[in-house]
Amino acid sequence: MGQLTDTTALITGASRGIGAATARLLAAEGAHVLVNYRDKAKRANAVVDAITGAGGSAAAVQADITAAADLDRLFAGIERLDVLVLNASGGLEKDVDPDYALRLNRDAQVDLAARALPLLPKGGRIVYVTSHQAHFAATEELAVYAPVARSKRAGEDALLAMLPEFTARGVDFVTVSGDMIEGTITATLLERAQPGTIAQRREAAGGLLTVEQFAQHVADAAVADLETGAVVLAGGPGAWARD
Ligand SMILES: NC(=O)c1ccc[n+]([C@@H]2O[C@H](COP(=O)([O-])OP(=O)(O)OC[C@H]3O[C@@H](n4cnc5c(N)ncnc54)[C@H](OP(=O)(O)O)[C@@H]3O)[C@@H](O)[C@H]2O)c1
Repeated sequence: MGQLTDTTALITGASRGIGAATARLLAAEGAHVLVNYRDKAKRANAVVDAITGAGGSAAAVQADITAAADLDRLFAGIERLDVLVLNASGGLEKDVDPDYALRLNRDAQVDLAARALPLLPKGGRIVYVTSHQAHFAATEELAVYAPVARSKRAGEDALLAMLPEFTARGVDFVTVSGDMIEGTITATLLERAQPGTIAQRREAAGGLLTVEQFAQHVADAAVADLETGAVVLAGGPGAWARD
């Protein structure tokens, strides 16, 4: 029996990358996984098919998390939630307005947590996924990522400010932060904007985690015995080491 049997987990931005890998891991622990995506239905359905093909349970749920009407529809379809993984993130996309990163990485995260809270039982958990650059506000290293890093740090701070509300309902809040992750679209975009970035991060961090390795930290954080408010540092300096 998995640790998440008879539970439901909603993972935002689970159509690809770290979110998709986390969805597979939580489903393998027995959770019914809600695979949220914004646009890429085909990819989200492929994640669901991989999970159900392996004997798990999952459903794809479309919602642009910055759109209140989408969140209304999403939450109208959820009766119970045990784990919320706040994974979806962005701001490096072309043609987005200057406020988009803050709307997505701060405001939408707070909106999601507030809507999820009444559904989460005592012992439920919210996991916020972030990057070391954002968590440590190390914005001087990667200029192109700085606005995203600032918005993600603002998101983390806004969620931490909700800690008393979470605690009042017996819901735990955990942050998982990672260095650059090998093989992600974000790493590719940053390398394109600032050539040499991946090699520089690899050297600085003493090796970078893969998507699967980082997702394992996120999935572990959904069930591990951690204090509320804990920050799991995955990979890089000060790592919460995993062999
Ligand atoms: N990549 C890294 O090097 C790295 C390092 C440390 C931490 N992280 C963190 O890990 C998390 C995932 O990163 P990733 O690189 O796997 O992301 P990614 O490949 O860019 O995937 C982003 C996901 O978020 C979804 N998404 C984007 N905007 C959305 C919106 N407005 N509403 C709903 N969904 C939205 C996308 O859905 P569609 O496909 O449908 O558009 C996609 O599923 C992020 O929190 C990131 O900060 C990443």
